[in-house]
Amino acid sequence: MKNTQIIGMGHYAPERVVTNAELEKWMDTSDQWIRERTGIERRHWISEGEKLEDLAYNASTMALENAGLRASEIDCIIVACIMSDYLFPGTSALLQARLGLPGIPAIDIRNACSGFVYALSIADKFVKTGTYKNVLVVGAEVQSTSLDLSTRGRDIAVIFADGAGAAVVSATDDQNKGVLTTHLHADGNFVDQLCMKKPSVNMRPRLGKELLESDEIYPYMEGRHVFKHAVTRFPEVIKEALEATGYSLEDIDLLIPHQANLRISEAVGKRLGIAPEKVYSNIQEYGNTTAASIPLAMSEAAGKGLIKENDLVCLAAFGAGFTWASALIRF
Ligand code: UT7
Repeated sequence: MKNTQIIGMGHYAPERVVTNAELEKWMDTSDQWIRERTGIERRHWISEGEKLEDLAYNASTMALENAGLRASEIDCIIVACIMSDYLFPGTSALLQARLGLPGIPAIDIRNACSGFVYALSIADKFVKTGTYKNVLVVGAEVQSTSLDLSTRGRDIAVIFADGAGAAVVSATDDQNKGVLTTHLHADGNFVDQLCMKKPSVNMRPRLGKELLESDEIYPYMEGRHVFKHAVTRFPEVIKEALEATGYSLEDIDLLIPHQANLRISEAVGKRLGIAPEKVYSNIQEYGNTTAASIPLAMSEAAGKGLIKENDLVCLAAFGAGFTWASALIRF
């Protein structure tokens, strides 16, 4: 059986940088609160005219270049994102057209912050079964336009941001390298703790004037509740990956958790006894980019030389749904 190797990575964030100080202009918050509670120092937001598709495309072309592949060598595209430039079809179709690849499958995954690991897991199965040789797996997100920038929405508005990351995965005969295992979970009993309810398909008309006044058109999160679940689920799903492969915590060279909150990543590292320098964090620069956060962090870490040949890297995610997931990869 083939194995699935990550042969190239890319990432992209919009040029517009929004500092904590800038947010202070719109809502009652402070640089100090944001840094202390989340670790975030700045984030990137799209500018007028910039699209989600652009972010996905830029990350993808970097990943292809990094892999040394032409776009025409990709057999399948899987894109993880919560929302899309169009309500339908999803971003994968837009990206497929932009890359000039008509005919190949374009798949959308909507599993929020766990989306990239879900997408990687699906790509892995396609490759291992010999269905496709090269799969482009993307996590891309534009959250900035959905935020309530008044004080009412400050708990979420200071966190979520825009970005994209991509990985080219490819079949290899080397059984010791590549995606060793993936683990996916969800518990829909918690949908209401982290969600955005409107506009909804069950409204007629879907868009009305009164909707603009409703706080249901903004993302909603029960922060403390989500935090508590996250710090339990992350260690659980990381241990699950280790148990499935016979590795131990000491074997992990780099843990790349979904960048939800620096305090969450630190708490997870502490609970597991993983040294802080082995837990990658770039939330300081990008905020929480939901489905984009893991591939963006993985590509950035690789670019900094933090992922070397033979390194054991663990990806771990938690987010809306709730969903949570992990992947263990030998590079
Ligand atoms: O990516 C998907 C997964 N997401 C997560 O895992 C995120 C999990 N949750 C969190 O990261 C944290 O819960 C938050 C960062 C969202 C909030 O931090 P917290 O330490 O849990 O704060 P809190 O919600 O308990 O609020 C503490 C106080 C409240 O004021 P009072 O009631 O104590 O007077 C809030 O109103 O901080 C207030 N507050 C703010 N103050 C200044 C909430 N947001 C802000 C803000 N600026 N932006």
